[in-house]
Formats: sequence, structure tokens, C-alpha cells
Amino acid sequence: MMVSSRITSWAALALLFFIAVVAHTANGHDHLSAGYYAKTCPNVERIVWSVMANRVGGGRMAPAVLRLFFHDCFVNGCDASVLLDATPFSESEKDVEPNTSLTGFTVIDEIKSALERDCPATVSCADVIAIASRDAVTLLGGPTWNVPLGRKDSRFAARREFTRAHLPSPNDNLTELIRMFGELGLDARDMTALSGAHTVGMANCMHYRGRVYGTSNTKYNIDPSFAESRRQLCPPQGPIGDAGKAPFDVTTPMKFDNAYYRDLIAHQGLLNSDQALYGGGGVDNLVEMYGTDGDAFGRDFAKAMVKMGNIPPPKGMPMEVRLQCSKAN
Ligand code: HEM
Ligand SMILES: *[C@@H]1O[C@H](CO)[C@@H](O)[C@H](O)[C@H]1NC(C)=O
Ligand SMILES: *[C@@H]1O[C@H](CO)[C@@H](O)[C@H](O)[C@H]1NC(C)=O
Repeated sequence: MMVSSRITSWAALALLFFIAVVAHTANGHDHLSAGYYAKTCPNVERIVWSVMANRVGGGRMAPAVLRLFFHDCFVNGCDASVLLDATPFSESEKDVEPNTSLTGFTVIDEIKSALERDCPATVSCADVIAIASRDAVTLLGGPTWNVPLGRKDSRFAARREFTRAHLPSPNDNLTELIRMFGELGLDARDMTALSGAHTVGMANCMHYRGRVYGTSNTKYNIDPSFAESRRQLCPPQGPIGDAGKAPFDVTTPMKFDNAYYRDLIAHQGLLNSDQALYGGGGVDNLVEMYGTDGDAFGRDFAKAMVKMGNIPPPKGMPMEVRLQCSKAN
């Protein structure tokens, strides 16, 4: 009697342990590690860096690559689903608003071909985006950090409605931003640091029009002369092409620094979702801290990028290492 109950409790303990291990591994990219390709593709980081440095440098494509990582991770985890072209059976995440000017695909393709020559069928496209976006930040003068690796690529892109629902909108308020990031395990501090990516790159008129004309539901203080200068670039109605693009940060538009936060304090945030971070909403102290302490911003940004890079694809999603980033094998 004694013995059998002991066996039962051992079995129960073993089962519990097994469940804990399974739950742990299924819950997130916990298995990611910086040395993942040490044996199978030891030059991976060097190859990514050389394409990024030679083809992109600190140019317009660098912010585009950084933005790709954000979009990839927010929709079904960091699984390179953002790179998939539409097929007759599957919609593409590229085709969903606010996708506009989600470029950078060509650079990723180029890096992937270079990697296929050196170590065929080894490095996932999801890892390529993660490394390339870190390099983009560094090339723009920002911090650097170790990127945990070992992601796999998903075989399917998310549906249009799903993509739309999971990407924050340029007119979201602070509550909404905190909620959307929170659903992915990113807290208000991560959200505030990650938004600092808007210290580089540009936005199209359609995304800041509501703010500079005061016509959107969300309304935040805006510096009048800043609003006037943006209205010059962005007519009140109608479609416009590249001419309607404005830099997020006017002072150092292509430098990855902490000027973004000082812009917010001056009420010169370009999107409503930028200005939402400053003006009495609860993360003002962080904005002020990042605005004065660039190193603290760099550290928190790097930490939050690693955290965002850990967002796992949904359980049961079929995964692989894609040979070409724009289509499943
Ligand atoms: C907080 C919620 C966010 C919203 C609502 C948002 C929205 C936008 C919008 C509307 C644009 C302009 C797109 C265009 O008109 O071409 C943009 C650009 C950009 N976003 Fe975000 N974004 C957010 C967070 C992030 C995060 C977390 C990152 C990266 C860590 C990021 C990186 C970028 C970059 C680098 C650009 C410039 C792209 C370029 O110049 O090509 N954004 N974002
Ligand atoms: C973004 O989405 C819009 C609307 O669905 C589409 O017309 C446009 O071609 C897409 N842009 C890109 C760059 O994929
Ligand atoms: C923020 O936006 C959400 C969603 O649009 C809305 O339900 C909520 O009332 C807004 N909150 C504030 C404080 O404006």
C-alpha cells in the first residue's frame, strides 16, 4: 500500500515536471540564444552586418528595416510572416494598412541570398530581420546589443483583419497603446522606449494629417508653428505621394538618438500616438528621463527590442527555415 502510493506520487510529480517543461518551452522563444548558429553558421552576424553596412549604411532603408521587425513581431510573433507575398490561399501582411512604405524587403532578400551561399537552409528569415534591425539601429548611430537567435519562419501569413487588429494605429491614445503592447508582454516602459524608434525615419501625410489639422478623435497639444510647417507638406485632403512625407524628428531625422523625447516635450510629436506619451498621461516621467539621459534610453531600448524579439508565434503554427524569405518552402 505504502509503496504503491509512493509510486503514484512520484508519477504525479514526474508528470507535473513534464507539464511544466512543456508549458515553459511552448510559452515563448525561451530557447533563443545568441550562440545559436555558432556551429552551423558562425559568420551569420558578419554577413548580415556587411550587407547592411555596404548597402544600407545610415540611409533611408535603415529605418524601414527596423520598422519591419516591429511589424513582424506584433503580428503572430517574430516569424518573418511579414515577408510573405500573398498567394491564392493566403493574404499578405504587406497589403494591410497601416503598411504603407513598409519597404526593406529587398535588403532582407539580399542578406538571405548571401547567407544561403555560406550556410544553406540554416538561418531563418525571422532571425535575419532581428539581426538586421539591430544593425540598422547601430548604423544610424544608436546602441548595439546581443540578439538571441533560433527563431523559425512560419508557413502562413496572418489574415488581413488579424493584422489590422494587432498593429497600433497612428491615432491610438496612451491607454490603447499600453493595452496593445501589454497583450504581448511589453509593459508601459518597454512601449515608451520602443516608441523612441520614431527618432529616425519618416511618415506619410495620411498618418499625421489628422494630428496637424486637429481632425482626428484623439487630440493632443501641438506646437502651432510645428503644425503649420507640417500642413505645408500635407494638404488637407486627397492622396499624395512621397512628397507628403515628413521626418519624425526634425532636428536629427536620421540619427538614432533621444531627440524624439525632447520633441514630445516640445509638443512636436508627429503622430498622435507619439504625442500620446507626453502631456499628463502617466509616462511623462519616462519621456523626461529619456529626453535627458540618452544612455538610459539606449539601454532600455535594447532591452525592449530583445523582449519584443521574444514574442512567440502561436502554438501549433507550422514552422520551417524558409529558403526564400518571400515564400514558404
Ligand atoms: C507605438 C505604436 C506605433 C505606431 C502607431 C507606429 C506607427 C507608424 C507609422 C504610421 C509610421 C509611418 C509609416 C509611413 O507613413 O510610411 C511609422 C514609421 C516607423 N515606425 Fe512606427 N509605430 C509604432 C511603433 C513603432 C515601433 C515599436 C518601432 C520599432 C521598434 C517603430 C519603428 C518605425 C520606424 C523606424 C518608422 C520609419 C520607417 C521609415 O522611415 O521607412 N514603430 N510607424
Ligand atoms: C498597403 O495597403 C494598401 C491598402 O490595402 C495597398 O493599396 C498598398 O499597395 C499597400 N502598400 C504596400 C507597400 O504594400
Ligand atoms: C482611448 O481609445 C480607446 C479606443 O479607441 C477608447 O475606448 C478610450 O475611451 C480612449 N481613452 C481615452 C482616455 O480617450
